[in-house]
Amino acid sequence: MSKIKLLNIVGARPQIIKSSAISRAIRTGFSDLITELTLHTGQHYDRELSEVFFDELEIHKPDFNLGVGSARHGRQTAAMITGIEEVLLEEKPDGVLLYGDTNSTLAGAIAASKQHFPVIHIEAGLRSFNKNMPEELNRIISDHASTLLFAPTNAAFKNLIHEGFRPENSPPYTIDNPKIYLTGDIMYDNSLFFAELAERKKSELLESMSLERNKFVLATIHRDINTDDIRRLEAIMSTIKQLAEEYMMPFVIPFHPRTMNSLKSGLVNLLEDLRKSKHIRIIPPVSYLTMTFLEKNCFMIMTDSGGVQKESHFFKKPCIVLRRETEWIELVANGTVMLADANPDLIVHAFEGYVQPGIHLDYPGFYGDGKTSEFILKEILMLFES
Ligand code: UD1
Ligand code: UDP
Repeated sequence: MSKIKLLNIVGARPQIIKSSAISRAIRTGFSDLITELTLHTGQHYDRELSEVFFDELEIHKPDFNLGVGSARHGRQTAAMITGIEEVLLEEKPDGVLLYGDTNSTLAGAIAASKQHFPVIHIEAGLRSFNKNMPEELNRIISDHASTLLFAPTNAAFKNLIHEGFRPENSPPYTIDNPKIYLTGDIMYDNSLFFAELAERKKSELLESMSLERNKFVLATIHRDINTDDIRRLEAIMSTIKQLAEEYMMPFVIPFHPRTMNSLKSGLVNLLEDLRKSKHIRIIPPVSYLTMTFLEKNCFMIMTDSGGVQKESHFFKKPCIVLRRETEWIELVANGTVMLADANPDLIVHAFEGYVQPGIHLDYPGFYGDGKTSEFILKEILMLFES
């Protein structure tokens, strides 16, 4: 079999991290069969949202960077589609690898499917059933433009079947005869791979931040519903401040620039109060190894992130999700994630529940065996054998 050429499309922080799992698997087991190229749309461009991950996770630097930057959805996605199409026509890859649900995923799906390049969607089938979320539209459209769809959970696999995908399809697979797989989660591969390294490389962090192991809360907030609606952001941040002070519990909050911008423009006084509170540590976005270390050593997580709520499970930490719904419904059913929206009463109630002494929580293995990337690559190779 001759070597195949895959084009990775990334753009936002979590996609760069996800692609590192696939890159590592190619490097260590498939380099004689697969050539990998990476296109970065430039959706995220600040060093701490992009370059830091290429350096730390030893991913090869992007072969192409479109530099699209920030803009409204239409303008940003259109610029990406234009740039991706040029690269596709020049490079003619055998397949295009897409991750998750960002505008970069959507642009890749449209550009590749319209030019008849097979789309391979990793993290397919996740649904929030809330089409007001930009990510929900991105997921649905990307899935329906794909030839191979890798669903990370049972729920995601079932969602695809409900939308008409047929698990019994047989090769040759095409956009009109797509193949759906139930796999694990490549982010679990990453967490297993990096957990020990994070512990070794970042162990001085607790002392430098005056934190004690298992005695702080890690919080992240970046979803547009929480940053662009100042009332929601105020409700969340005031509740965090109240809990931090009442329980004398440090909260470490690496802020996405979007959240910091909203606080600076609409909630200056609250930001000042948060900065003055001795229990609250507002810090810039951190690298993946630092984040892994903080997740591993915290007591509890509060987040509106998709990736972070799952990592709470990998590291066996209870998690309060600052949204009304989640795509990772198995975590809610398991009782280790509680949905609290931006509602102070629900947040406090969830927090009080998880700080109960003697509370027993289980963290079953929902996300595969840590070798999902290898499984995905084997299946991709079969597409080109058939
Ligand atoms: C995007 C994804 C979201 C994902 C998140 C991961 C979409 C629609 N959203 O959200 O699904 O969870 O990435 O972090 O694709 N900004 C900077 N520096 C940067 C990038 C952005 O300051 O390097 C600021 C800009 O003010 C920008 C805002 O953040 O307008 C939002 O950036 P954008 O990429 O549109 O969406 P995210 O909120 O990052
Ligand atoms: N992350 C990170 N540094 C941070 C915040 C998050 O490395 O300051 C990592 C986190 O560990 C996870 C991923 O980024 O692997 C999640 O990305 P994000 O929350 O931005 O997006 P989502 O998963 O919600 O799409």
